[in-house]
Amino acid sequence: MRVLIVGGGGREHALAWKLRQDDPNIELIAAPGNPGLAQLARCAPVPANDAERLAALAESERVTMTLVGPEAPLAVGIVDRFRARGLPIFGPTRYAAEVETSKSAAKEIMGKGEVPTARAERHTDPDQAKRAAREFGAPVVIKASGLAAGKGVIVCQSMEEADRAIDSMLRLGAFGAAGTELLVEEFLDGEELSVFAMTDGTRVLPMLPAQDHKRLLEGDRGPNTGGMGAYAPVSIGGSMFVDEVVTRVFHPTLTVLREQGRPFTGLLYAGLMLTSQGLRVIEFNCRFGDPETQTLLPLMDSSLLEPMFAVATEEGLAGASSFSWRAAHAVTTVVAAAGYPERPRTGDRITLPKPTKGVELFHAGTAVAPGGALVTSGGRVIAVTAVAATLAEAQERSVRGAEAIQFEGRQYRSDIAWRELSRSPGAGAA
Ligand code: AMP
Ligand code: GLY
Repeated sequence: MRVLIVGGGGREHALAWKLRQDDPNIELIAAPGNPGLAQLARCAPVPANDAERLAALAESERVTMTLVGPEAPLAVGIVDRFRARGLPIFGPTRYAAEVETSKSAAKEIMGKGEVPTARAERHTDPDQAKRAAREFGAPVVIKASGLAAGKGVIVCQSMEEADRAIDSMLRLGAFGAAGTELLVEEFLDGEELSVFAMTDGTRVLPMLPAQDHKRLLEGDRGPNTGGMGAYAPVSIGGSMFVDEVVTRVFHPTLTVLREQGRPFTGLLYAGLMLTSQGLRVIEFNCRFGDPETQTLLPLMDSSLLEPMFAVATEEGLAGASSFSWRAAHAVTTVVAAAGYPERPRTGDRITLPKPTKGVELFHAGTAVAPGGALVTSGGRVIAVTAVAATLAEAQERSVRGAEAIQFEGRQYRSDIAWRELSRSPGAGAA
C-alpha cells in the first residue's frame, strides 16, 4: 500500500508513525513533510494547500489513498477534487468541512441537531454586535466567523475589551475575510476536552478523550498557542462520557450534515467544555488535532489504517470494530521556538538526544539547513510523547525528553497533565 500524507507538522509525523506500525511494509509519501517525516516517508516538495498539484502527484505516484492532516487543504476542496478524479482520500468535502471553517454554519448545524453549545448571535454590524455583547454581559466571547488560524477568538472580560474586539474585526478588518462576520457568544466556564471520532458519515468510531494545554506558560497562564501539550486518558472522560458525546454530539451533527446534503467523512473533532450545566461544544474541527494526535496514536492498540482505508475508499465502517487502547498513560510536551507564539524565531540549531524506548519525538517546525544541521523553522518545533504505566511517570519522561532537546531560547511546559495529577494524588495506575 502507498499512502500520501498531506501536511508537514507533528500531527502528520505521528500519523505516519502509526501507519508504519500498522503496516511495516507501507510506502509513505509526505507533501511537503519535514525532517522527522523524512525518516518514514519520501517527502515531495508540494505545498499542502495546492490541491491540483497534490492530485497530480497522487495520480503519478499511483497512491492507494491520501490522508489530509491540516484544515487548509480541506477548506479549499482537496477532497472534492480527488473524488472527481476517482482518487481515494480521507477527509471531508469542502462543504462538509464548514463545520470547522464557518463558525456560523457550525452553530446552525448544532441548532438544528439540538447539540449542546454556547448561545451565540451572528453580527456584521459593529453597533448591533456591541449591543448584543451588552445583553450577554461580561465575560463574553467574540469570534471571527471564518478560519483565522486559531487567532480569531477573543475572550473579553469587560465591555471595553468586547468593543475593541468587535471594532478590530468589523471596522479594521483584523482577520480579513474571516472576520467580516462575527459571533457574540456566551462565555463557558469549565474544563476543556478534545474528543475525536472517525466517521463514514453515519457510523462513528470514537477515540479516547485527550486534554490539550493551549496556554504558553505553566499553570495555564500566558498567551494562547496552538497547543503546548496534551495527555490521555482523562479520568473525567471515561466510557460513559464518550457514549454521551456520541449520542448527544456526533450522531445528531452527522445526521444534520447528511440531511443538508453534505455527509461528513473523515475525522470529526469535538472541542468540548465540561460546564457545571453539562457538556457544551466549543467548536468542531474537520481533522485530527495537534498535539492530541501525537498523544493518542502511541496509545492506540488497534489499527488506524484499516478503518481509515475503509472511509477513504467509501466502503464505510459497517464492518469495523471499535478502536482499542493500551492500558497506559501518554503525555506529550511540545518544545517551542524562542519568541513563540508572537514571533517565533527560526534558524536555531537543534541538538537531539539519542532515542529512548517509550519516548517518541514528532517533528513539526524543524528543517535541514544548507550545511546539513537540523534547525528550527516554526513555532512548535518538536512534540515529545512518553507512554508509561502511570501518568506521573509519563509526565516525568516526557519532560526529560523535552529537556534533552536543545536549542537557543526553547520553551516548554513541565506541567502537562497537572489537572489530572491534582485530581488523583496517587494518580495513575493504568
Ligand atoms: P477555538 O478557536 O474556537 O478553538 O477557541 C479557542 C479557545 O478559546 C478554546 O479552546 C477555548 O479555550 C476558548 N473559547 C472559545 N469559545 C469559548 C467560550 N464560548 N467560552 C469560553 N472559552 C471559549
Ligand atoms: N489542539 C487544537 C487543534 O488542533 O486545533
